[in-house]
Amino acid sequence: MCGIVGILGKEPVSGQLLEALKRLEYRGYDSAGVATVENGELGRRRAEGKLHNLEARLSDDPLMGRLGIGHTRWATHGAPTEANAHPHMTTRVSVVHNGIIENFKQLRSELESAGVEFSTDTDTEVIAHLVSREMDAGHDPAVAVQHALGQLEGAFALAFIFKDHDNLMIAARQGSPLAVGYGDGEMYLGSDAIALAPFTDTISYLEDGDWVVMTREGLAIRDRQGAAVERPLQKSVASALMVDKGNHRHFMAKEIHEQPEMVGHTLANFIDFANSRVQLPDMPFEFSSLDRISISACGTAYFAGLVAKYWFEKLARLPVEIDVASEFRYRDVPMEAGGLSLFISQSGETADTLAALRYCREQGQTIVSIVNVRESSIERDSDAVLPTLAGPEIGVASTKAFTCQLSVLACLAIAAGRARGTLSEETEIELVDALSEVPRHMSAILRDGRTYDALAHSLAKASDVLYLGRGVNYPIALEGALKLKEISYIHAEGYAAGELKHGPIALIDETMPVVVVAPRDAMFEKTLSNVQEAAARGGRIVFLSDAEEKAAGCDLMAAIKLPAVHSFTTPLIYALPMQLIAYHTAVFLGTDVDQPRNLAKSVTVE
Ligand code: M6R
Repeated sequence: MCGIVGILGKEPVSGQLLEALKRLEYRGYDSAGVATVENGELGRRRAEGKLHNLEARLSDDPLMGRLGIGHTRWATHGAPTEANAHPHMTTRVSVVHNGIIENFKQLRSELESAGVEFSTDTDTEVIAHLVSREMDAGHDPAVAVQHALGQLEGAFALAFIFKDHDNLMIAARQGSPLAVGYGDGEMYLGSDAIALAPFTDTISYLEDGDWVVMTREGLAIRDRQGAAVERPLQKSVASALMVDKGNHRHFMAKEIHEQPEMVGHTLANFIDFANSRVQLPDMPFEFSSLDRISISACGTAYFAGLVAKYWFEKLARLPVEIDVASEFRYRDVPMEAGGLSLFISQSGETADTLAALRYCREQGQTIVSIVNVRESSIERDSDAVLPTLAGPEIGVASTKAFTCQLSVLACLAIAAGRARGTLSEETEIELVDALSEVPRHMSAILRDGRTYDALAHSLAKASDVLYLGRGVNYPIALEGALKLKEISYIHAEGYAAGELKHGPIALIDETMPVVVVAPRDAMFEKTLSNVQEAAARGGRIVFLSDAEEKAAGCDLMAAIKLPAVHSFTTPLIYALPMQLIAYHTAVFLGTDVDQPRNLAKSVTVE
């Protein structure tokens, strides 16, 4: 998954291309490049690593074309080197690509047999050669692109510029998002509306199979069959302002500290606090007529769904089938028409989640999504959306989006319980009151940064860490392990605490920190037994609890006191120490916290 941008401007466009690419860096940041057409000649600059390397390259050796394309890469085929960085080009055409060309090996060997020489390991280079070959055969650029598109299999968004064409850009979408933007005598193209926000708020989203021929004067969109089509103009609400880090050293720190506010906003959107009642907007389904819900999501969003499974099943007696979307989409799941499928995604662009959604639509399901980025593909493909009001999340490690997802899901589970008659009015009031206290408890935890800083010094020496939790907090243990892995690069695994004795206990010795999520709830005594089992084998316990004194006697690395809260809201509360442990450990180790290696914020490839 990569970010692509294109501009047909009145002035040299490389500065604007860079500005748009900065806004797309969440899609990948292992290399970047731009190409422009100046007096009919194609020119290109590329650089390995972050965008500032490309910026420096352009400042040493500027490009002055008024028409150009740009790319920020998350490598799929070929190492993240300058040679493999986009744009790719031949003498005739330059192309940027987001996605994967699945039949590239076959296309490449056909082209090589015909004498074409390749200079990269990417799947994208075949596209440049296919278009070039069509132009060599005498076709104009639009026909050449159309013929080349017919040979490509996979998911992609593409933008092309051509030698000798100072007023022409062609783009295509098949499975990867692409928006066109309308300016005053200028035209724009981008992977999302956020990239285009500094230049225009008037956009159209291309649909799958669309390809578009653009000049400064306008555009013509065609569908897969070649028929002229129109896509509605929309006013984008994406902000032109770049989000900054405020007083924080990293976006992740800022986003962790924003949680009391963002969770408060999100809850307020679904709760009538004056009467302690959940108030959902009109939904295209009735909870009372459902016999199950299916949930699909990836990564942290999946863990939010896993928490919700416990909530829906307990409060609403509603069975939940939950899957990571990358498995669900290929599992050929039998589904009875008329069911409810729920999708959870911060970005709203995760390819696996989107594919799972489309499968469910084909099976006649009602599609409801919980997304943070408005106007995203998942939102647009849903029958209803329940937004998380987390604001822009820039750090690759998801933090505030997760707790906002939990906030929405908590409200949804309460509403389900009420609608199905399994939850009394008194219990609704009790649970809503507990939710309303969450922002205050979060603020209290966030005042205690020093505890986590001290713990980080010890954890940073570990090469493996176990996270344990039970019941609704088992997914929180999984989330804690994921957070630590992705930003500190320390190997970590989350387990249901009761599962310890079935295998993972063999790993425990005095070098193994064991982080235990242990609120004083119905499972507390059982969790304590598991802690004793781990401690007896030398494990060094990090005990997170509102009854931290109960771990006395174990070999403690730390006992961290957390606020005593209603058992319903413990996942929201215990998510924060998971984030803080990972954050402080990563800072201590000096990793790139906001843009950890090999990851991207939005995973738009499968
Ligand atoms: O944008 P999404 O919520 O669909 O993204 C899903 C995962 O890629 C994401 O949660 C990922 O696991 C994060 N890096 C976790 O911190």
